[in-house]
Amino acid sequence: MVGGGAREHCIASVLARDDVELYTVMKNKNPGLAGLSTDLFLNSETEVDKVSAWAKDRGADMAVIGPEAPLEMGLVDALEDIGVKCIGPKQSCARLETSKSFTRDLLDRYKIPGNPKYRVFSTAKGMKEFMEDLGEFVVKDVGLCGGKGVKLSGEHLHTLDEGMDYAGQCMMKRGAVVVEEKFVGEEFSLQCLTDGKTIVGSPLAQDHKRLLEGDEGPNTGGMGSYSDADHLLPFLTQDDYDAALDITKRVCHAVRQETGNDYRGVMYGGFILTADGVKLVEFNARYGDPEVMNVLPLLETSLLELFEAVVDGRLREDMVKWSNLATVCKYVVPKGYGVKSEAGFPLEVDEAAISSTGSRLYYASVDERPDGLYTGTSRSLAVVGTDETISAAEKKAEAALAHVKGNIFMRHDIGTPEAIEKKVSRMRAIRPA
Ligand code: GLY
Repeated sequence: MVGGGAREHCIASVLARDDVELYTVMKNKNPGLAGLSTDLFLNSETEVDKVSAWAKDRGADMAVIGPEAPLEMGLVDALEDIGVKCIGPKQSCARLETSKSFTRDLLDRYKIPGNPKYRVFSTAKGMKEFMEDLGEFVVKDVGLCGGKGVKLSGEHLHTLDEGMDYAGQCMMKRGAVVVEEKFVGEEFSLQCLTDGKTIVGSPLAQDHKRLLEGDEGPNTGGMGSYSDADHLLPFLTQDDYDAALDITKRVCHAVRQETGNDYRGVMYGGFILTADGVKLVEFNARYGDPEVMNVLPLLETSLLELFEAVVDGRLREDMVKWSNLATVCKYVVPKGYGVKSEAGFPLEVDEAAISSTGSRLYYASVDERPDGLYTGTSRSLAVVGTDETISAAEKKAEAALAHVKGNIFMRHDIGTPEAIEKKVSRMRAIRPA
């Protein structure tokens, strides 16, 4: 396992249902992953040579790459060169996440639906006119920015000049910038597994990127997410799911034609349902964090067998079966997170009490010291309630949160009937039946 967050803790805990021997590379010691692992390598996950030498030394058969940064650095290419099969795409295929212009151009070239009006600029020539034509617009750093590279007019960019300034900064850093139409609607995540030819979907989930209740405040890595028992979301239909899956399938085949490589691993599409149907916000080349926690624990078949089928190129759609249950995931973060985290404070986690609520617990950025757990600067841990309805799952997650104490913050609105109803009525106004 490469990575030490709640996403990786969740993947590892589902893999651990089978007889796996787990070795984990992570920067900080995640106590959940440490408990599941035979051995740990506490090291940066992007030091490709060191990570692959360690994997070789431990005799690894397969590597699961959790975060995007090692994919960008070519860790999969290096591991495959020494015979370690990977859940995660090669560097050329990972451009689906690591280069925003690659993905927009790919959809355009292969006539795949879902793109906004967009242009990739390497100079400011014509940019202001394009922004004016669009009215509302988005400026995207072409590369990885940990979720902070996308700025929207009316939200982060209040004038055309602010838009031009930010685009200028992006061009200085990367040599290019994407300017595109701003979509209006509700976002959702479809996380698929693929061996490059067959694609299997999973239940949809909706993340909450804003720090504060009511979807206010600065963007974060994600404060929590929910999924529904029918694997759709309360504001969309099976046709919308099918449209997102169809885009994913077409993109997967386009990536093969473009790169000559099979994309092996996770294709996580960030979609938005608009008045004009399903549109693509972005693709990620790994599971969503938090959305993986809504989905993988519901898998009734073996994740290990699925991963083996992916790396061997023999994935079949009938290999996945999901429980018909709803989930609500809520992250606990250090106070100040999203602005300036107050890190290094003791964190009290009553694991037994959380387990007695029927919720799951996944550790993220916590530091395990001899005298207990301490918060890091990033998200600390997540709890996931599972039940027959979103509302019942939400109550379970809330019951679990009562057993986490410290200098912490969390959103209590995620998954509540009021919050869900707001999304449904917003979508109804955007796209009347
Ligand atoms: N849920 C946001 C992300 O994983 O990028």
